[in-house]
Amino acid sequence: MWKGRFQQQTAELLQKFSESISFDWRLWPHDIEGSVAHSAALLKAGLISQAERDSIVKGLQEIGQEIAAGTFKFKEELEDIHMNIEAELTRRIGDAGAKLHTARSRNDQVALDIRLYLRSECDSLLKLLREFQSALVQLASANAGVVIPGYTHLQRAQPVFFAHHLLAYVEMAQRDWERIVDCRRRMNVMPLGSGAIAGSTILLDRALIAELLDFPSVTQNSMDAVSDRDFAIELLAALAIVAMHLSRLSEDVILWASAEFGFITLSDAFTTGSSLMPQKKNPDVAELTRGKTGRVYGNLMSLLTLMKGLPMTYNRDMQEDKEAIFDSIDTVKAALAVFAPMLRAAKVNAASCASAVADPNLLATDLADYLVNHGMPFRKAHEVVGRAVALCAEKGCELTELSFEQYHGLSSVFERDVHSILNVPRSMEARQAIGAPSPQNVASQIARWQAHLA
Ligand code: ARG
Repeated sequence: MWKGRFQQQTAELLQKFSESISFDWRLWPHDIEGSVAHSAALLKAGLISQAERDSIVKGLQEIGQEIAAGTFKFKEELEDIHMNIEAELTRRIGDAGAKLHTARSRNDQVALDIRLYLRSECDSLLKLLREFQSALVQLASANAGVVIPGYTHLQRAQPVFFAHHLLAYVEMAQRDWERIVDCRRRMNVMPLGSGAIAGSTILLDRALIAELLDFPSVTQNSMDAVSDRDFAIELLAALAIVAMHLSRLSEDVILWASAEFGFITLSDAFTTGSSLMPQKKNPDVAELTRGKTGRVYGNLMSLLTLMKGLPMTYNRDMQEDKEAIFDSIDTVKAALAVFAPMLRAAKVNAASCASAVADPNLLATDLADYLVNHGMPFRKAHEVVGRAVALCAEKGCELTELSFEQYHGLSSVFERDVHSILNVPRSMEARQAIGAPSPQNVASQIARWQAHLA
């Protein structure tokens, strides 16, 4: 492509070192789509004839079909996807192909291709996030009455509906969804026409190209357009957050599926066995998701580090963005795709949940609230109930097993109805503030999400 200025062949070592076709071949549908639109602008500017445009479009389409069919031969010496397609087109159709790169550089070409690619991947990710949310809501609604201990510090805290716990992740996934929508909007700007750095002396109708490629606007600074990858970094950051959320849910799933918790049973189809221990049934989907989160974080760091020292504008370093981008997208898509059916196929063990939530200490705060409702300042009430808990620990009994006299001995504010407080359904019923897990609130949140996701 640059043979005019050079007297020697590229060293084979350099060829191997600098090629990107082994991974950027995936950009082919976008590269072709971009070239088809670019050729429309060349036609409009009178730089190619209608017949030349037709043969470019036809040639590109044929190449596309061959790539899709797996019969196209990519050449390492042609470096990247852009040159592989253009060189083959020119080999097939001659001069018309050689005119295609008029007023275009690989710098604005790759900026366009990545944006087109990421835009369509955003759409797939948004769909997968919706399916993930639907699976969570389905599991929540199928087990709407199940109460489990809620945890802080992984210590039993207060009772919550299992559904409330799941819906917390639906909320997180919703913010993930919005982050992706937001960064899709910012990346959705058409960069072609920026050339290598300073546009071109040959004027093309950039608005036409944008319209053909369904971009609502065009970039306003040619140097910015070829030099920044902030839109990709934003998406990788959004994906790092998605992965973090999935990783936390993974940790919950792993705990819940353990014999110690026993809250859920995962389907055979989404667990693996051990080659040695016959009894094992391992939550590998959740473990792998938790593990892959490291890669997704790493990709974000790679890209940030890649970009931080680059002088304006395009630098070849930027070719290193691809593998990080592809890997984060592939990884998060795969995790979302497998998580949704795994959740749908999970069974909740109501009996184990009930026995865990029968721990009366979960209602210690309710006892303090009882004292507050009888006029005691909360700090004082906290201390009184703390002493009741200590008394139980000393006697080896539960809060439900202390007598009225014992409660009365701790504080004369306790009345004979004190034991009625130590009741989970009553406790749940009372949690009526917006966002709190009363049965009515949880039911209406399930209904809200069902309607939203429908
Ligand atoms: N494969 C290159 C990349 O991904 C395309 C742009 C190459 N531009 C250049 N001037 N060498 O960055």
